[in-house]
Amino acid sequence: MTDEHCEKPCAKGGCSRAEFLRTAVPCVGGAWALMAAYPIYSYLTPNSSDEPESKVSSVTVGSTKDLPPGSGKNFKFGSTPALIVHTKDGTYHAFSAVCTHLGCTVQFRPDKDQIWCACHGGCYDPSSGKNIAGPPPKPLTALKVDVVDDKIIVSKA
Ligand code: FES
Repeated sequence: MTDEHCEKPCAKGGCSRAEFLRTAVPCVGGAWALMAAYPIYSYLTPNSSDEPESKVSSVTVGSTKDLPPGSGKNFKFGSTPALIVHTKDGTYHAFSAVCTHLGCTVQFRPDKDQIWCACHGGCYDPSSGKNIAGPPPKPLTALKVDVVDDKIIVSKA
C-alpha cells in the first residue's frame, strides 16, 4: 500500500499544521488498518503448517473397562494430543486431537455425541473424524485402534 502523502516529506524549514496533518493522518490510518486487519486474517486463515510428526508408533491407552460406550478420552500420542472415542455402537475410533482449524485440542462431548473444539466451536463426527460444523477445514487425522486382551492400543494408521 503506497500513499503519496507518506512519501512526500515536508520541505526543509518546517510544515504548516495542515501539511503535517495531510501527511500524518493517512499514514497513521494506514498503519492502524493493517494492525486491525492482521488478527482478522489470522482468525480466518487455517493453520497451514502440518502438525508435528510423532516418533511414537503405538500407545496403550488403557483398559476397555475404563472406556464404556458413549465415552471418550484424551491422551498423548508421543508429544501430540490424541483422542479415543468408544461410540455407542461399540466401536473404537482414535484421532489426532489437534483441531484442523487453528490447532486447539479437541475433546469428546458425550452430551452431543460429537468431537468438539472449544476454541471456535468446531465439530467433528466421532466415528469418522469428519468436520461437520464450524470453521475446521478438514477432518481430524485418524489413528488405528486395536484391542488386545482388554487393552486398547492406538497406533499410526
Ligand atoms: S481451533 Fe478453531 S475450531 Fe478448533
